[in-house]
Amino acid sequence: MEKIPVAILGATGEVGQNFVTNLQNHPWFEIAALYASERSAGKSYAAAIDYGKETSRWFCHEKPLKKIMDIKVKNVDKVDAGECKLFFSALPSEVALEAEGRVAKEKPVVSTASSYRYFEDSFTYLPGVNESHTKMIEIQRKSRGWKGYVVPQPNCTTIGLAMSLKPIYDEFGLKRVTMASMQAVSGAGYAAIAEWAKQRKTMGGELPCDMQNFVQKTFEGNVIPYIKDEESKVKKETVKLLGKFSGGKIEPAKFKVACKCNRVPVIHGHTESVFIETVEKCLVDDLKSAWRSYRGELQKLDLPLAPKHPIVVMDEADRPQPRFDSYVENGMAAVIGGVETNVYENGFQYTVLSHNVELGAARGAVLAGEFLHKTGLIK
Ligand SMILES: NC(=O)c1ccc[n+]([C@@H]2O[C@H](COP(=O)([O-])OP(=O)(O)OC[C@H]3O[C@@H](n4cnc5c(N)ncnc54)[C@H](OP(=O)(O)O)[C@@H]3O)[C@@H](O)[C@H]2O)c1
Repeated sequence: MEKIPVAILGATGEVGQNFVTNLQNHPWFEIAALYASERSAGKSYAAAIDYGKETSRWFCHEKPLKKIMDIKVKNVDKVDAGECKLFFSALPSEVALEAEGRVAKEKPVVSTASSYRYFEDSFTYLPGVNESHTKMIEIQRKSRGWKGYVVPQPNCTTIGLAMSLKPIYDEFGLKRVTMASMQAVSGAGYAAIAEWAKQRKTMGGELPCDMQNFVQKTFEGNVIPYIKDEESKVKKETVKLLGKFSGGKIEPAKFKVACKCNRVPVIHGHTESVFIETVEKCLVDDLKSAWRSYRGELQKLDLPLAPKHPIVVMDEADRPQPRFDSYVENGMAAVIGGVETNVYENGFQYTVLSHNVELGAARGAVLAGEFLHKTGLIK
Protein backbone atom coordinates (compact mmCIF):
# COMPACT_ATOMS: atom_id res chain seq x y z
CA MET A 1 0.00 0.00 0.00
CA GLU A 2 1.33 3.44 -0.92
CA LYS A 3 1.69 5.54 2.21
CA ILE A 4 -0.30 8.74 2.70
CA PRO A 5 1.93 11.85 2.75
CA VAL A 6 1.40 13.88 5.93
CA ALA A 7 2.83 17.12 7.33
CA ILE A 8 3.48 18.23 10.91
CA LEU A 9 2.89 21.89 11.81
CA GLY A 10 4.83 22.87 14.94
CA ALA A 11 7.15 19.86 14.42
CA THR A 12 9.97 21.13 16.66
CA GLY A 13 7.92 21.50 19.88
CA GLU A 14 7.06 19.07 22.65
CA VAL A 15 3.98 17.68 20.87
CA GLY A 16 5.53 18.04 17.41
CA GLN A 17 8.42 15.76 18.43
CA ASN A 18 5.92 13.17 19.60
CA PHE A 19 4.19 13.40 16.23
CA VAL A 20 7.58 12.59 14.67
CA THR A 21 8.10 9.48 16.82
CA ASN A 22 4.54 8.28 16.24
CA LEU A 23 4.64 8.84 12.47
CA GLN A 24 8.20 7.99 11.40
CA ASN A 25 7.50 4.22 11.30
CA HIS A 26 3.75 4.38 10.79
CA PRO A 27 2.32 1.67 8.51
CA TRP A 28 -0.10 4.04 6.68
CA PHE A 29 1.36 7.56 6.96
CA GLU A 30 4.66 9.00 5.73
CA ILE A 31 6.11 12.29 7.00
CA ALA A 32 6.55 14.45 3.89
CA ALA A 33 6.93 17.95 5.38
CA LEU A 34 7.82 19.61 8.69
CA TYR A 35 6.82 23.14 9.62
CA ALA A 36 7.71 25.44 12.54
CA SER A 37 8.33 29.14 13.20
CA GLU A 38 10.67 31.53 11.44
CA ARG A 39 13.27 30.61 14.10
CA SER A 40 13.54 27.04 12.71
CA ALA A 41 12.68 27.64 9.05
CA GLY A 42 15.44 26.86 6.55
CA LYS A 43 17.32 24.61 8.99
CA SER A 44 17.45 20.82 8.87
CA TYR A 45 15.19 19.25 11.53
CA ALA A 46 18.34 18.13 13.42
CA ALA A 47 19.71 21.72 13.45
CA ALA A 48 16.35 23.23 14.41
CA ILE A 49 16.20 21.12 17.57
CA ASP A 50 19.96 21.25 18.24
CA TYR A 51 19.97 17.46 18.13
CA GLY A 52 22.95 15.86 19.91
CA LYS A 53 24.17 19.17 21.42
CA GLU A 54 24.13 20.24 25.05
CA THR A 55 21.31 22.63 24.14
CA SER A 56 19.33 19.77 22.51
CA ARG A 57 15.59 20.25 22.54
CA TRP A 58 14.81 16.60 21.71
CA PHE A 59 12.83 15.20 24.66
CA CYS A 60 11.55 11.84 23.39
CA HIS A 61 13.05 8.45 24.32
CA GLU A 62 12.92 7.26 20.71
CA LYS A 63 15.39 8.94 18.32
CA PRO A 64 14.32 10.69 15.13
CA LEU A 65 15.35 8.69 12.02
CA LYS A 66 18.15 10.11 9.85
CA LYS A 67 15.74 10.75 6.96
CA ILE A 68 13.62 12.91 9.31
CA MET A 69 16.62 14.78 10.74
CA ASP A 70 17.61 15.73 7.17
CA ILE A 71 14.23 17.25 6.24
CA LYS A 72 14.43 21.02 5.83
CA VAL A 73 11.95 22.71 8.20
CA LYS A 74 9.63 25.22 6.53
CA ASN A 75 7.91 28.31 7.84
CA VAL A 76 4.26 27.76 8.86
CA ASP A 77 3.44 31.11 7.20
CA LYS A 78 4.27 29.53 3.84
CA VAL A 79 2.45 26.22 4.30
CA ASP A 80 1.61 24.50 1.00
CA ALA A 81 -1.65 22.56 1.32
CA GLY A 82 -0.99 20.81 -2.00
CA GLU A 83 1.98 18.71 -0.85
CA CYS A 84 0.24 16.43 1.69
CA LYS A 85 -3.12 14.70 2.15
CA LEU A 86 -3.33 15.20 5.91
CA PHE A 87 -1.86 17.84 8.26
CA PHE A 88 -1.18 17.24 11.95
CA SER A 89 -0.92 20.46 13.92
CA ALA A 90 0.91 21.11 17.21
CA LEU A 91 0.95 24.89 16.93
CA PRO A 92 0.27 27.35 19.75
CA SER A 93 -3.42 28.30 19.58
CA GLU A 94 -2.76 31.92 18.64
CA VAL A 95 -0.94 30.76 15.51
CA ALA A 96 -3.17 27.76 14.81
CA LEU A 97 -6.36 29.71 14.09
CA GLU A 98 -5.00 31.33 10.94
CA ALA A 99 -2.60 28.57 9.81
CA GLU A 100 -5.01 25.63 10.27
CA GLY A 101 -7.84 27.59 8.65
CA ARG A 102 -5.64 28.27 5.62
CA VAL A 103 -4.82 24.56 5.23
CA ALA A 104 -8.40 23.41 5.90
CA LYS A 105 -9.66 25.30 2.86
CA GLU A 106 -8.07 22.43 0.92
CA LYS A 107 -7.09 19.57 3.25
CA PRO A 108 -7.96 17.88 6.57
CA VAL A 109 -6.16 19.02 9.71
CA VAL A 110 -6.04 17.06 12.99
CA SER A 111 -5.00 19.51 15.69
CA THR A 112 -3.86 19.46 19.31
CA ALA A 113 -4.45 23.23 19.58
CA SER A 114 -7.64 24.74 20.99
CA SER A 115 -8.38 27.32 18.25
CA TYR A 116 -11.16 25.36 16.51
CA ARG A 117 -12.67 23.61 19.55
CA TYR A 118 -15.48 25.98 20.46
CA PHE A 119 -17.22 27.17 17.28
CA GLU A 120 -20.87 26.28 16.51
CA ASP A 121 -19.71 24.17 13.56
CA SER A 122 -16.84 22.41 15.37
CA PHE A 123 -16.28 19.62 17.88
CA THR A 124 -13.43 17.88 19.66
CA TYR A 125 -12.75 14.25 18.86
CA LEU A 126 -11.55 11.82 21.53
CA PRO A 127 -10.90 8.51 19.75
CA GLY A 128 -12.99 5.74 21.29
CA VAL A 129 -15.46 8.13 22.91
CA ASN A 130 -17.36 10.24 20.36
CA GLU A 131 -17.01 8.86 16.82
CA SER A 132 -20.63 9.95 16.14
CA HIS A 133 -19.58 13.61 16.41
CA THR A 134 -17.43 13.33 13.26
CA LYS A 135 -20.71 14.00 11.38
CA MET A 136 -19.92 17.65 12.24
CA ILE A 137 -17.19 17.54 9.57
CA GLU A 138 -19.72 17.83 6.73
CA ILE A 139 -21.49 20.66 8.55
CA GLN A 140 -18.19 22.52 9.02
CA ARG A 141 -17.22 22.05 5.38
CA LYS A 142 -20.56 23.40 4.16
CA SER A 143 -20.71 26.34 6.56
CA ARG A 144 -17.17 27.49 5.69
CA GLY A 145 -16.98 26.41 2.05
CA TRP A 146 -13.89 24.32 2.83
CA LYS A 147 -12.76 21.18 0.97
CA GLY A 148 -10.90 20.12 4.13
CA TYR A 149 -11.76 20.51 7.83
CA VAL A 150 -10.21 20.85 11.29
CA VAL A 151 -10.63 18.06 13.85
CA PRO A 152 -9.25 19.30 17.18
CA GLN A 153 -8.30 16.92 19.98
CA PRO A 154 -9.74 17.79 23.40
CA ASN A 155 -7.56 19.48 26.00
CA CYS A 156 -5.09 16.96 27.50
CA THR A 157 -6.62 17.40 30.98
CA THR A 158 -10.13 16.68 29.70
CA ILE A 159 -9.06 13.45 28.02
CA GLY A 160 -8.42 11.17 31.05
CA LEU A 161 -11.48 12.53 32.82
CA ALA A 162 -13.85 12.15 29.85
CA MET A 163 -12.54 8.65 29.09
CA SER A 164 -13.18 7.56 32.69
CA LEU A 165 -16.67 9.13 32.75
CA LYS A 166 -17.90 7.70 29.43
CA PRO A 167 -18.80 4.12 30.54
CA ILE A 168 -20.18 5.37 33.87
CA TYR A 169 -22.38 8.00 32.20
CA ASP A 170 -23.65 5.43 29.67
CA GLU A 171 -24.48 2.77 32.29
CA PHE A 172 -25.41 4.60 35.49
CA GLY A 173 -25.87 8.28 34.55
CA LEU A 174 -24.03 11.15 36.25
CA LYS A 175 -25.38 13.94 38.44
CA ARG A 176 -22.19 15.75 39.37
CA VAL A 177 -18.44 15.57 38.70
CA THR A 178 -15.66 17.32 40.64
CA MET A 179 -12.02 17.02 39.69
CA ALA A 180 -8.63 18.29 40.91
CA SER A 181 -5.69 17.80 38.54
CA MET A 182 -1.95 17.42 39.14
CA GLN A 183 -0.45 18.14 35.73
CA ALA A 184 2.97 17.40 34.24
CA VAL A 185 5.40 20.18 33.32
CA SER A 186 5.61 18.84 29.73
CA GLY A 187 2.00 19.99 29.35
CA ALA A 188 3.37 23.54 29.17
CA GLY A 189 5.67 22.88 26.18
CA TYR A 190 9.42 22.65 25.60
CA ALA A 191 10.21 26.07 27.10
CA ALA A 192 8.78 24.90 30.46
CA ILE A 193 10.76 21.63 30.38
CA ALA A 194 13.96 23.56 29.59
CA GLU A 195 13.23 25.95 32.48
CA TRP A 196 12.65 23.06 34.89
CA ALA A 197 15.86 21.32 33.74
CA LYS A 198 17.77 24.56 34.45
CA GLN A 199 16.21 24.83 37.91
CA ARG A 200 17.15 21.23 38.74
CA LYS A 201 20.76 21.93 37.74
CA THR A 202 21.07 25.19 39.68
CA MET A 203 19.30 23.83 42.76
CA GLY A 204 21.66 20.82 42.71
CA GLY A 205 21.14 17.76 44.87
CA GLU A 206 19.72 19.65 47.83
CA LEU A 207 16.12 19.38 48.93
CA PRO A 208 14.07 22.24 47.50
CA CYS A 209 13.96 24.80 50.33
CA ASP A 210 11.42 27.57 50.99
CA MET A 211 12.09 30.69 48.88
CA GLN A 212 11.86 34.29 50.09
CA ASN A 213 11.12 36.08 46.82
CA PHE A 214 8.35 34.94 44.50
CA VAL A 215 9.62 33.65 41.14
CA GLN A 216 7.08 32.79 38.39
CA LYS A 217 7.28 29.28 36.87
CA THR A 218 9.22 27.70 39.74
CA PHE A 219 8.59 24.04 38.91
CA GLU A 220 11.28 22.39 41.03
CA GLY A 221 9.90 21.27 44.42
CA ASN A 222 6.70 23.28 43.92
CA VAL A 223 2.98 23.19 43.06
CA ILE A 224 1.53 25.93 40.84
CA PRO A 225 -2.21 26.09 41.56
CA TYR A 226 -3.19 27.85 38.33
CA ILE A 227 -3.08 26.93 34.64
CA LYS A 228 -4.48 29.64 32.39
CA ASP A 229 -7.91 28.76 30.87
CA GLU A 230 -7.51 25.06 31.76
CA GLU A 231 -10.53 24.80 34.04
CA SER A 232 -12.98 26.40 31.61
CA LYS A 233 -11.71 24.09 28.84
CA VAL A 234 -12.26 20.97 30.97
CA LYS A 235 -15.77 22.07 32.00
CA LYS A 236 -16.96 22.91 28.46
CA GLU A 237 -15.28 20.03 26.67
CA THR A 238 -16.24 17.19 29.02
CA VAL A 239 -20.01 17.68 28.70
CA LYS A 240 -19.73 18.23 24.95
CA LEU A 241 -17.63 15.07 24.43
CA LEU A 242 -20.25 12.98 26.24
CA GLY A 243 -23.12 14.81 24.50
CA LYS A 244 -25.37 13.53 21.70
CA PHE A 245 -25.17 14.52 18.05
CA SER A 246 -28.72 15.41 17.07
CA GLY A 247 -30.31 17.77 14.55
CA GLY A 248 -26.95 18.86 13.16
CA LYS A 249 -25.48 19.87 16.51
CA ILE A 250 -24.09 18.41 19.72
CA GLU A 251 -26.36 18.53 22.78
CA PRO A 252 -24.02 18.62 25.81
CA ALA A 253 -24.48 16.00 28.56
CA LYS A 254 -26.62 17.33 31.42
CA PHE A 255 -24.32 16.82 34.43
CA LYS A 256 -22.22 19.64 35.92
CA VAL A 257 -18.40 19.65 36.19
CA ALA A 258 -16.30 21.59 38.70
CA CYS A 259 -12.51 21.41 38.63
CA LYS A 260 -9.26 22.92 39.85
CA CYS A 261 -6.02 22.46 37.92
CA ASN A 262 -2.46 22.37 39.31
CA ARG A 263 1.01 22.09 37.74
CA VAL A 264 3.32 19.68 39.62
CA PRO A 265 6.96 18.65 39.09
CA VAL A 266 6.24 15.53 37.05
CA ILE A 267 7.61 15.11 33.53
CA HIS A 268 4.75 13.21 31.79
CA GLY A 269 1.21 12.28 32.81
CA HIS A 270 -1.71 14.24 34.21
CA THR A 271 -3.08 12.71 37.43
CA GLU A 272 -6.61 13.64 38.51
CA SER A 273 -8.59 13.09 41.73
CA VAL A 274 -12.20 12.67 40.66
CA PHE A 275 -15.40 12.76 42.75
CA ILE A 276 -18.64 11.67 41.07
CA GLU A 277 -22.30 11.14 41.95
CA THR A 278 -24.17 8.67 39.76
CA VAL A 279 -27.91 8.75 39.00
CA GLU A 280 -28.42 4.98 39.43
CA LYS A 281 -27.36 3.12 42.57
CA CYS A 282 -24.31 0.98 41.94
CA LEU A 283 -21.29 -0.57 43.65
CA VAL A 284 -17.55 -0.02 43.31
CA ASP A 285 -17.38 -3.39 41.53
CA ASP A 286 -20.02 -2.24 39.01
CA LEU A 287 -17.89 0.78 38.15
CA LYS A 288 -14.77 -1.34 37.83
CA SER A 289 -16.46 -3.84 35.55
CA ALA A 290 -17.95 -1.04 33.38
CA TRP A 291 -14.43 0.39 32.96
CA ARG A 292 -12.76 -2.96 32.37
CA SER A 293 -15.26 -4.11 29.76
CA TYR A 294 -15.41 -0.78 27.92
CA ARG A 295 -14.44 -0.97 24.25
CA GLY A 296 -15.03 1.93 21.86
CA GLU A 297 -15.62 1.68 18.10
CA LEU A 298 -11.88 1.76 17.40
CA GLN A 299 -11.20 -1.65 18.90
CA LYS A 300 -13.55 -3.13 16.26
CA LEU A 301 -11.76 -1.31 13.42
CA ASP A 302 -8.33 -2.72 14.27
CA LEU A 303 -6.44 0.58 13.87
CA PRO A 304 -2.64 0.45 14.33
CA LEU A 305 -2.45 2.76 17.39
CA ALA A 306 -5.74 1.80 19.07
CA PRO A 307 -5.08 0.42 22.58
CA LYS A 308 -6.43 -3.06 23.35
CA HIS A 309 -7.80 -1.73 26.63
CA PRO A 310 -8.72 1.98 26.48
CA ILE A 311 -9.32 1.95 30.26
CA VAL A 312 -7.14 0.03 32.70
CA VAL A 313 -8.17 -0.39 36.36
CA MET A 314 -5.53 -0.99 39.06
CA ASP A 315 -6.66 -2.54 42.34
CA GLU A 316 -3.70 -1.27 44.43
CA ALA A 317 -4.75 1.70 46.59
CA ASP A 318 -1.57 3.68 45.78
CA ARG A 319 -1.75 3.48 41.98
CA PRO A 320 -1.71 4.85 39.30
CA GLN A 321 1.45 6.93 39.64
CA PRO A 322 2.77 8.99 36.70
CA ARG A 323 6.40 7.78 36.81
CA PHE A 324 5.30 4.17 36.65
CA ASP A 325 1.95 4.07 34.88
CA SER A 326 1.87 6.82 32.22
CA TYR A 327 3.01 4.40 29.51
CA VAL A 328 0.45 1.64 30.18
CA GLU A 329 -0.92 0.65 26.71
CA ASN A 330 1.84 2.82 25.13
CA GLY A 331 0.44 5.92 26.83
CA MET A 332 -2.97 5.42 25.19
CA ALA A 333 -5.09 4.34 28.19
CA ALA A 334 -6.86 6.11 31.00
CA VAL A 335 -5.44 4.33 34.07
CA ILE A 336 -7.79 4.27 37.05
CA GLY A 337 -7.18 3.34 40.69
CA GLY A 338 -8.17 4.06 44.28
CA VAL A 339 -11.87 3.55 43.54
CA GLU A 340 -14.08 3.85 46.62
CA THR A 341 -17.42 5.16 47.85
CA ASN A 342 -17.61 8.45 49.75
CA VAL A 343 -20.05 10.29 52.05
CA TYR A 344 -22.35 11.54 49.28
CA GLU A 345 -25.40 9.63 48.05
CA ASN A 346 -24.29 7.43 45.13
CA GLY A 347 -20.90 9.09 45.62
CA PHE A 348 -17.55 7.62 44.48
CA GLN A 349 -14.00 8.84 44.19
CA TYR A 350 -11.02 7.63 42.19
CA THR A 351 -7.71 8.61 40.63
CA VAL A 352 -7.26 8.70 36.86
CA LEU A 353 -3.95 9.12 35.03
CA SER A 354 -3.47 9.78 31.31
CA HIS A 355 -0.39 10.65 29.26
CA ASN A 356 -0.64 14.30 28.26
CA VAL A 357 1.50 14.04 25.14
CA GLU A 358 0.63 10.52 23.91
CA LEU A 359 -3.15 9.93 24.37
CA GLY A 360 -3.48 13.62 25.31
CA ALA A 361 -1.90 14.96 22.13
CA ALA A 362 0.27 13.45 19.36
CA ARG A 363 -0.45 9.70 19.53
CA GLY A 364 -4.15 10.37 20.15
CA ALA A 365 -4.19 12.70 17.13
CA VAL A 366 -2.49 10.09 14.92
CA LEU A 367 -5.12 7.57 16.04
CA ALA A 368 -7.77 10.15 15.09
CA GLY A 369 -6.09 10.37 11.67
CA GLU A 370 -6.25 6.58 11.35
CA PHE A 371 -10.00 6.64 12.08
CA LEU A 372 -10.59 9.43 9.54
CA HIS A 373 -8.65 7.48 6.92
CA LYS A 374 -10.40 4.18 7.67
CA THR A 375 -13.81 5.84 7.36
CA GLY A 376 -13.00 7.52 4.03
CA LEU A 377 -12.62 11.06 5.32
CA ILE A 378 -9.11 11.54 3.89
CA LYS A 379 -8.98 11.64 0.09
N1 LIG B 1 2.39 19.72 25.74
C1 LIG B 1 1.28 19.04 25.94
O1 LIG B 1 1.18 18.15 26.80
C2 LIG B 1 0.05 19.34 25.10
C3 LIG B 1 -1.03 18.47 25.20
C4 LIG B 1 -2.18 18.70 24.44
C5 LIG B 1 -2.23 19.79 23.61
N2 LIG B 1 -1.18 20.65 23.54
C6 LIG B 1 -1.28 21.77 22.58
O2 LIG B 1 -0.42 21.46 21.47
C7 LIG B 1 0.13 22.68 20.94
C8 LIG B 1 1.66 22.58 20.97
O3 LIG B 1 2.07 22.46 22.33
P1 LIG B 1 3.59 22.16 22.73
O4 LIG B 1 3.56 21.86 24.16
O5 LIG B 1 4.19 21.19 21.76
O6 LIG B 1 4.26 23.62 22.47
P2 LIG B 1 5.79 23.95 22.26
O7 LIG B 1 6.65 22.89 22.81
O8 LIG B 1 5.95 25.35 22.76
O9 LIG B 1 5.98 23.95 20.65
C9 LIG B 1 5.40 24.94 19.80
C10 LIG B 1 5.65 24.64 18.32
O10 LIG B 1 5.02 25.67 17.53
C11 LIG B 1 6.01 26.42 16.82
N3 LIG B 1 5.70 27.85 16.91
C12 LIG B 1 5.74 28.65 18.00
N4 LIG B 1 5.41 29.92 17.68
C13 LIG B 1 5.19 29.93 16.34
C14 LIG B 1 4.83 30.95 15.39
N5 LIG B 1 4.65 32.21 15.77
N6 LIG B 1 4.68 30.59 14.10
C15 LIG B 1 4.86 29.32 13.70
N7 LIG B 1 5.21 28.29 14.55
C16 LIG B 1 5.35 28.61 15.84
C17 LIG B 1 7.34 26.12 17.49
O11 LIG B 1 8.37 26.27 16.53
P3 LIG B 1 9.86 26.80 16.91
O12 LIG B 1 10.56 25.63 17.56
O13 LIG B 1 10.42 27.15 15.58
O14 LIG B 1 9.70 27.95 17.85
C18 LIG B 1 7.13 24.66 17.93
O15 LIG B 1 7.31 23.83 16.80
C19 LIG B 1 -0.43 23.83 21.80
O16 LIG B 1 -1.56 24.37 21.17
C20 LIG B 1 -0.81 23.12 23.10
O17 LIG B 1 -1.82 23.79 23.79
C21 LIG B 1 -0.04 20.44 24.25
